[in-house]
Amino acid sequence: MNQNNTKAIVAHKVTKSVSLPSAQKNKSEKQLTILSDIELTIHDGESIAIVGASGSGKSTLLGLLAGLDLPTSGEVHFYGKAIHTLDEEQRAQIRRSDVGFIFQQFLLVPSLTALENVMLPAELSDDKSLRDKAKSLATEWLEKVGLGHRLDHFPNQLSGGEQQRVAIARAFITQPKLLFADEPSANLDTENGKLVEDLLFELNQRSNITLVLVTHAPELAARCQRVVTIHGGHLTEEAKSTQDTSEGEVDNLDLAVSEAISNAFYS
Ligand SMILES: Nc1ncnc2c1ncn2[C@@H]1O[C@H](COP(=O)(O)OP(=O)(O)OP(=O)(O)O)[C@@H](O)[C@H]1O
Ligand SMILES: [Mg+2]
Repeated sequence: MNQNNTKAIVAHKVTKSVSLPSAQKNKSEKQLTILSDIELTIHDGESIAIVGASGSGKSTLLGLLAGLDLPTSGEVHFYGKAIHTLDEEQRAQIRRSDVGFIFQQFLLVPSLTALENVMLPAELSDDKSLRDKAKSLATEWLEKVGLGHRLDHFPNQLSGGEQQRVAIARAFITQPKLLFADEPSANLDTENGKLVEDLLFELNQRSNITLVLVTHAPELAARCQRVVTIHGGHLTEEAKSTQDTSEGEVDNLDLAVSEAISNAFYS
């Protein structure tokens, strides 16, 4: 196990609600509570999967933990910093230096090539050596995800799976402390899915990067040290066997976790 006792993220009493305009005239807005009283502590170097049915609030939680979004109430601490008290610019500064994010919808910049998209976070970095190496690092990461032959393609000239791999290379380039990945292998074929998943866990284990991922794939969730489930706006965690499942040994998956995952996906 790689994790130490440093707390990477602490979510305390986190609630997220949104206002929905009423369909009927003269009726007031409705409040929709997506997440209630979430308590979650993630230690440095851990790998953790967030699972749950579609619409249960996984992407919402990931956005809150990464400081992309703010809770309606409650606290989110990022390496001891209370990010719920920071403004957008201060949160953006933390994200630029410490966070990589693989979005469910990729969010590539359409007017930039694959190479330029991957270079972007390095070029925006406060670290001059990273800025200077942006092009060579971007080329290297695109080669690692199997896209060395697509450097000059724009996003609309790439398949869905290729766009996803560009988004993954973009998240890796700054070697962030924390990597958030929303369904990182959902659009990939078996071979490329495995390649990307192996890269995620290689980074987690070799570089001690904290990995927080959302997935619908029980095999991928099983590779993480911890699995938490969102259901009805609440978060639960099943105790997992102490055996290391990092090599993807589904056989090692604790039965309770397996049940929790299947309940979350199929209920
Ligand atoms: N800005 C918003 N306004 C209204 N409803 C929202 C908003 N954002 C999210 N929701 C609702 O909150 C719920 C949770 O959304 P979220 O995207 O977090 O789900 P998810 O678990 O990631 O689902 P999926 O597995 O389909 O990606 C959904 O029912 C969604 O419709
Ligand atoms: Mg989602």
